[in-house]
Amino acid sequence: MRVGVLTGGGDCPGLNAVIRAVVRKGVTQHGFEFIGFRDGWKGPLEGITMELGIDQCRGILPRGGTILGSSRTNPFKIENGVERIKDNLAKEGVDALVAIGGEDTLGVATKLADLGVHVVGVPKTIDNDLSGTDFTFGFDTAVNIATEAIDRLHTTAESHHRVLVVEVMGRHAGWIALHAGIAGGASMVLIPEQPFDIEEVCVQVQKRFESRYAPILVVSEGAVPKEGGDMTLVSGELDAFGHVRLGGIGDRIAKEIEQRTGAEARAVVLGHIQRGGTPTAFDRWLATRFGLQAIDAVADGDFGTMMALRGTSIARVPLSEGTAELKLVSPSEYAEAQVFFG
Ligand code: F6P
Repeated sequence: MRVGVLTGGGDCPGLNAVIRAVVRKGVTQHGFEFIGFRDGWKGPLEGITMELGIDQCRGILPRGGTILGSSRTNPFKIENGVERIKDNLAKEGVDALVAIGGEDTLGVATKLADLGVHVVGVPKTIDNDLSGTDFTFGFDTAVNIATEAIDRLHTTAESHHRVLVVEVMGRHAGWIALHAGIAGGASMVLIPEQPFDIEEVCVQVQKRFESRYAPILVVSEGAVPKEGGDMTLVSGELDAFGHVRLGGIGDRIAKEIEQRTGAEARAVVLGHIQRGGTPTAFDRWLATRFGLQAIDAVADGDFGTMMALRGTSIARVPLSEGTAELKLVSPSEYAEAQVFFG
């Protein structure tokens, strides 16, 4: 069997570990051949490929990013996109595809599976917001990077008696902010699921200053104020999946705090630092297990499925189910962080 592999959407530490596991087990245990498609769905759409075998996968386990490249191409937004993908797969003699991606990439995989393409999905996103799986790889790395940043910010904030607002990724879901905020001892965590009241934020800031510590606020990029409005928007630009480019909420909150409390406040935007560099051991372990299970699903002809972590086991769930809804932080999970506010 000849198997195509692609990685789509925002990159994420652990992608290379998946590719390596898929290829290693596919070649050695199933006797498959592989072809890499470059830059997400753009690869099969435009017929952009690369050689992919055990040799190409040597040394990539600890490397961030993806050797296949990535993009946010949506073939359903491109004229004859699906036909072009089907034609290119046939031209390359590809019998099955392993698509590694988040909500958008796997959303495309779901529709293609319904149209008869043999595809198996592997979930990835640092946001950890896919409902079908307990965890996605990349999330643990992002949380560790954010936690280390918070640890470092504590000492400088205390020295200068200033408020530091740390903006982390998380478009719709506040998982990174919640986990890093709890692990890093933040004095407040603001997430998209719980619109915040800026007055309440200022009360907590002042309360924190009553101790000998300085306030560290961890804020998801998609956090919104209770009053509504579009404080999070830096530009109105949309990507191919209709997502607006976020960023800037940390800075807005810092300015509001300064105006309302008189305390000096600065924002730190972690941005793509959270997505770069080497994956943690947990993410390498999870990504490897997803890859091993994905190529077994191909061998079993179990198409239209997505790999999912359920407890400590890797399960196969229908692609449609795995991407059906976003996994959000519940009020009770948020309440655990609230114990430490102020
Ligand atoms: O979905 C993953 C993610 O890292 C989000 O947290 C973030 O909003 C988005 O991608 C940013 O995407 P990019 O920088 O690739 O445009």
